Amino acid sequence: MSPLRILVTAAFGAAVLTGSSGCSSTSTSAKATKTSEEVMEAGFKGKDPALKGADTVAGRIRAGTATDADLKLMVELTRQLALNKPSKGDLASWTAKTAALHAAAKDLAAHKPGAADLWKEAVNCKACHSMHKPD
Ligand code: HEC
Repeated sequence: MSPLRILVTAAFGAAVLTGSSGCSSTSTSAKATKTSEEVMEAGFKGKDPALKGADTVAGRIRAGTATDADLKLMVELTRQLALNKPSKGDLASWTAKTAALHAAAKDLAAHKPGAADLWKEAVNCKACHSMHKPD
């Protein structure tokens, strides 16, 4: 699936989910309900530095011990990440990185063969942070 197709699918899904509840705008463009920081807190940021991230959803995916609930949560977190705009770095890079991450999460949740390798490649913390994480 092309990154564009993934984005369109994600945007459509969000528009359906948000519906028109409490929203006076007629725009159907999807808006993130979680900031990138909140996404990192919820799925990537370890609470205990000694565990080196093993206590996070991303850590369990890395270790191969993620539950279906973990994978479902990661699909949603990466969808939110892709809906956000980067506060640093260019949008094309952000879009490519977050679309790849979201696609890999969906493959993991669907237990597709090769999903773990795709995820490993896409979840490069340093590659994304060096481009997009504000100091
Ligand atoms: C696709 C991009 C991307 C990937 C991949 C990514 N991050 Fe992040 N991360 C961000 C951005 C953007 C921020 C800055 C959010 C902000 O403060 O606005 C961030 C911030 C963080 C923070 C600081 C959050 C806070 O409370 O201020 C932690 C911790 C973190 N990431 C951990 C990780 C780890 C661990 C991984 C890899 C397993 C990872 N991230 C992968 C984009 C990414």
